[in-house]
Amino acid sequence: MIAMTASASRPLSGTPVSASTGGASLPDQQTNGVPILEVQDVYKMFPIRGGLFLKQQSQASVLNGISFQLGTGEILGIVGESGCGKSTLARLLMRIFPATSGEMRFEGKSIQDYLKKDYFHQVQMIFQDPFSSLNPKMTVATLLDEIIQLHQPNQDTTQVRSQLLDEVGLPKESEKKYPHEFSGGQRQRIAIARALAAQPKLLIADEPVSALDVSIQAQILNLLSDLQKSHRLSLVFISHDLEVVDYFCDRILVIYLGRIVEELSGNALQQAQHPYTQALLRSIPDPHKKAEGLQVLQGELPSPLNLPPGCGFYSRCEHRQPVCQQRPPHLERHAPGHQVACFAVSPPSDSDSAAQ
Ligand SMILES: Nc1ncnc2c1ncn2[C@@H]1O[C@H](COP(=O)(O)OP(=O)(O)OP(=O)(O)O)[C@@H](O)[C@H]1O
Ligand code: SF4
Ligand SMILES: [Mg+2]
Repeated sequence: MIAMTASASRPLSGTPVSASTGGASLPDQQTNGVPILEVQDVYKMFPIRGGLFLKQQSQASVLNGISFQLGTGEILGIVGESGCGKSTLARLLMRIFPATSGEMRFEGKSIQDYLKKDYFHQVQMIFQDPFSSLNPKMTVATLLDEIIQLHQPNQDTTQVRSQLLDEVGLPKESEKKYPHEFSGGQRQRIAIARALAAQPKLLIADEPVSALDVSIQAQILNLLSDLQKSHRLSLVFISHDLEVVDYFCDRILVIYLGRIVEELSGNALQQAQHPYTQALLRSIPDPHKKAEGLQVLQGELPSPLNLPPGCGFYSRCEHRQPVCQQRPPHLERHAPGHQVACFAVSPPSDSDSAAQ
């Protein structure tokens, strides 16, 4: 059974997140024509070892040719079911381990060519579970001060700390407390303050609201939205929740088995063409269609240990054709800002293209 989740309780409560830019064309958002982040044909294989001498027995092909660009100030959503490779991509971008092949460039330069301190001054990450990323033995003041002193050594630490707490909506008294004394939403605010303390240009957010209840999700999304605007942050926003991604992001990449199968603008998920994205959308609980029941996507994600030669979605696809088993489909332009990798999705007709 599909592992995606989709919250049924939309619209989000609280102050509304401002409308996304609807996938404004990338060149306008680039700095000097260079995207802030470029990912080009990235593969990640993990060796699978076993036996007495832990010899490599096979490999898991987790990312299989991922390419995309992110413009300055853009929010890029990455969505896909559990195990499709979202966190692996985030970890590559955070240099936790290297890609097997392909290129990742930050502001035009390979991410491996930056000194780590310089890179993490500009690129920061927030996680699904802020508790695990916050040292339980440190007070909030200590947690923030170590990052402020590393990345803003010439500033008044106390002043920057107060400013950060204020920005993320935590009272000044918070600085004396320990992580366990906060709720999940407050802990995520501390994690966001820590990330901001480095004054990053790019934030990688891996399921930052998945562990929070709906009203707290809305507060954290609103906070991220405000900070994204005030700091002109670029954001890679990873989530299971299609509706949150549709609402929050300028552009969305749908990943299946380590490949991008569809790319489309925020607020446009209802126009999705790929059979996988459509199946995900049908699986979102709709109170108006309660009688029809949930249309659950059947079957499991194929194992990355044994990638099918053709389309990865073949075994679960109701539109499959013989060609789909022979070679993987490539992303092709379907409409402006909309690309689909599927043999069954026809490209726009000549008249459509002329009109565009
Ligand atoms: N170090 C590793 N060694 C071997 N396999 C790994 C390693 N890290 C991740 N994988 C495999 O890569 C696949 C993708 O994992 P990843 O954590 O990127 O998925 P995900 O899309 O983030 O899933 P979720 O939504 O559950 O967080 C999984 O099959 C996982 O088992
Ligand atoms: S390429 Fe074929 S198997 Fe893959 S999603 Fe399209 S129709 Fe289905
Ligand atoms: Mg993950």
